[in-house]
This record gives sequence, C-alpha cells and structure tokens, in this order.
Amino acid sequence: MLSNRIVQQQGKAESGRLPIRFPCCVLGSECLQLLLRRCREAKDCAYCPYSRFPVGAALLTAGGEIFSGCNVENACYSLGVCAERTAIQKAISEGHTRFRAMAIASDMADFITPCGACRQVMREFGTDWDLYLTKPDGTYIVKTLQELLPLSFGPEDLQKA
Ligand code: THU
Repeated sequence: MLSNRIVQQQGKAESGRLPIRFPCCVLGSECLQLLLRRCREAKDCAYCPYSRFPVGAALLTAGGEIFSGCNVENACYSLGVCAERTAIQKAISEGHTRFRAMAIASDMADFITPCGACRQVMREFGTDWDLYLTKPDGTYIVKTLQELLPLSFGPEDLQKA
C-alpha cells in the first residue's frame, strides 16, 4: 500500500477557498477537480477488449491546457499503449512539452500507479511534476515523478558522456 501524503475525498476540494499545496506546483481546486474529472471521462473511452482494465489519464500542461488519453489495446498484444502515454503523445503532437501534473483513473480498488515504461516516458519531460493517483471512490494520493522514478535517466544524462 502506498503512503498517503495527501488523500482527499473528491468534491471536498471544491468547497475550499485556498489552493491546495502540492510538492511541485499549486493547483487551484477547480483546476484539480477538472483534471480529476477529465481522467475519469477518458477512462470511459478506453479500448481494452483484451485486459478489460480501462485506464484514463489527464495531463495538465504548463500553459493550463488539459490533454486526456486512454489505453488503446491491439490484437497484437504488445502494441497496446497505456493511457498515460496516449495523453503525453497527444500533448507533444500539439506542441506542448512542459507539464505540471497528470491524473490517472482506473476501476482498480487501490490507487492506480503508472507502469515503468510510462514513468520513463514522463521523465523525458522533467522530474518535477505531480501525479495524482486515484481510486474509483474519488480519493487520491499525489506523488512527484521524482518519487515514482528515483535515480532516473533523462536527456541531460546524454551530455555527461
Ligand atoms: N494500463 C494503463 O493504461 N496505465 C496504467 O497505469 C497501467 C496499465 C493499461 C495497459 C493495458 O491496456 C491494461 O491497462 C492492462 O495492463
């Protein structure tokens, strides 16, 4: 079980006046609620006839735009793509490379956590952004990418050889 640095019932943040403070950036409660809603909505679009494990992700850019994504599986199983990477690829292909946060939703009873491949793809775009890992009951925990992928390898390391 992951430690719950911040756990909040969905909906409660809406009534709060102060922005909620997180490790990497401060999201206004409206912005956070929208991000959480968009990842749940994206989950409903998941194409996952093989795993029957729908996942949705919503990615918040530095400029405040949200790109969502779902997992997209394939009859050739290895070609399936996770929701997190779908969202990142949508954002990158629209010209966005700086990210503040991503929210992820699934039907799993526990907090959904991104796979190792997705963590590495996220890391390409920095280590100081936040991941909101949600449960279907609306609770979430927030982790920085640095926490999810410590001692990571990134583009800067290529310059060190
Ligand atoms: N999946 C995601 O999309 N994101 C995650 O964080 C975990 C797993 C997908 C991949 C595959 O389509 C299905 O969930 C089962 O692994």
